[in-house]
Amino acid sequence: MIVRPETPSDYEAIDELLRSAFGGADESQLVRSLRASDNYVPDLALVAEENGQVVGHIVFSYVTLKNDEEFRVLALAPMAVTPARQRRGIGGALVEAGLERADDRREPLVIVLGHPTYYPRFGFEPASRYGIEPPSADIPDAAFMVRRLSQYSERQRGRVVYPAAFGMT
Ligand SMILES: CC(C)(COP(=O)(O)OP(=O)(O)OC[C@H]1O[C@@H](n2cnc3c(N)ncnc32)[C@H](O)[C@@H]1OP(=O)(O)O)[C@@H](O)C(=O)NCCC(=O)NCCS
Repeated sequence: MIVRPETPSDYEAIDELLRSAFGGADESQLVRSLRASDNYVPDLALVAEENGQVVGHIVFSYVTLKNDEEFRVLALAPMAVTPARQRRGIGGALVEAGLERADDRREPLVIVLGHPTYYPRFGFEPASRYGIEPPSADIPDAAFMVRRLSQYSERQRGRVVYPAAFGMT
């Protein structure tokens, strides 16, 4: 298995992968919107490839962290592995590869809204612990997590605001 940045020739396979993993078109639409926005980071939209087939996909893109200051920080979403290839470490390899690339770019942190049983193994912690608040009070504390990277500083706190494409607000 290799992990590499997506290219336009992968887009169709990614679309099919997202539809089969999520059972709908919302995430495909989200990924298309992200690619068209200036929050998209080409180096941080990754595919896992096995025998020339795209079997996994992950996107890290910019959201805003607001207090008296504003920071652009990364959020992980969406992420998917082909149903028949799940639970073999592909998702984990994608998360690890993305975190490493984000750290290499000197990004301070990565936000995720996701399963509280899945992400802590990659070093994600409840965001509230660091004064990082979700966009809406409806989001359970345990599901809103942050992975601090080596450039993290305590200045990076406040409320996370997602671009409209995420449909969060
Ligand atoms: C979440 C997802 C990306 C994980 O990818 P993966 O390659 O299966 O993950 P890994 O093999 O690295 O890790 C496996 C662990 O993930 C969790 N997991 C994966 N699939 C799961 C499932 N269907 N049900 C419950 N837990 C699951 C388990 O904790 C599992 O560990 P275990 O096998 O020791 O119990 C994949 O299951 C998926 O595409 N799910 C549908 C889409 C989705 O929900 N995406 C996340 C929200 S954006």
